Amino acid sequence: MGPGLDDGYTEGSAKTPEWRTPPLWGLGLSTNSQGGQYFLLHDGRAKSIEEAILLHAGEGQQRKERFQQLSVQEKNSLIKFLQSL
Ligand code: HEM
Repeated sequence: MGPGLDDGYTEGSAKTPEWRTPPLWGLGLSTNSQGGQYFLLHDGRAKSIEEAILLHAGEGQQRKERFQQLSVQEKNSLIKFLQSL
């Protein structure tokens, strides 16, 4: 996921910038058990879905760039969809 999410620790055979790709179902419900807030990515640093997407790099870089090219309306639709999972 690139140098931004690299924490310098290895786990099993995963290298330091490598993370398990999480399932996104239940994403919209996760705030219910976290005081109404998001704590996304492996260390909870992303406080919104948009922030989590914008922290994608490495193998996720292209998706981030595609997201950045969307209109505000398209971004909102995508986020609404992700929250419905
Ligand atoms: C439109 C496409 C994508 C969307 C909307 C998306 C969305 C997200 C979101 C919301 C998270 C945070 C989930 C959580 O913390 O529970 C996440 C994490 C992650 N995504 Fe994506 N993602 C996309 C594409 C990709 C691609 C193409 C890759 C890799 C090839 C990828 C790899 C990952 C990984 C490894 C994490 C976990 C990173 C960490 O824990 O630090 N994602 N993604």
